[in-house]
Amino acid sequence: MKIGIINGSIRDGRAGAGVGEFVKEIADARGGDVNYELIDLKSFNLPLFTGDTLPMMMNKQYDTPEATAWSQAIDACDAYVVITPEYNHSVPGALKNAFDSLGAEWVGKVVGFVGYGAVGGVRAIEPWRTIVANFSMHDVRAEVNLNLFVDWNDEGFAPTDRRADEVNAVFDAVEELAAKLA
Ligand SMILES: Cc1cc2nc3c(=O)[nH]c(=O)nc-3n(C[C@H](O)[C@H](O)[C@H](O)COP(=O)(O)O)c2cc1C
Repeated sequence: MKIGIINGSIRDGRAGAGVGEFVKEIADARGGDVNYELIDLKSFNLPLFTGDTLPMMMNKQYDTPEATAWSQAIDACDAYVVITPEYNHSVPGALKNAFDSLGAEWVGKVVGFVGYGAVGGVRAIEPWRTIVANFSMHDVRAEVNLNLFVDWNDEGFAPTDRRADEVNAVFDAVEELAAKLA
């Protein structure tokens, strides 16, 4: 089983870089035969979706090399853990565009969320659950809510002790549900 850890922040100086490293380190320490891969949206330079054909109708054949690379990275995974910041009480636009840019690659797969923000990214994760429902994805209840006032200090990202267990709980839930569905 391959699980993609999607780092959904593309801002210069993003807090998400540290979150992505933290989540991937926990994945690597799990052992077992699940292959966790960090998929960093920023590295794909994905353009805004402007095509005249719905991505769900494109049979995974896209017009740009960036969209093709993104499609292949997402298609290769059986399930995902999505790391999402909260922007303006909702999902970040670049990551929403990254979901909008594909179709069949997402369908029916399992997804869990790691959010962050002033109140743990809860106002991003809740709309994500509605968005992924349109791809018939299966979201797990367990989530991680990293708090900018608790899990960061003057030096940067400093997750509190319990966060590792919370990330593992998301991994456990995603692995279990993906195995059941396989
Ligand atoms: C455009 C924008 C909107 C934001 N809106 C919210 C918000 O509604 N709620 C919140 O908790 N944090 C908000 N923030 C603060 C972010 O949680 C914080 O800047 C965080 O570091 C963003 O993640 P990033 O650095 O990986 O982009 C916002 C940040 C940006 C850039």
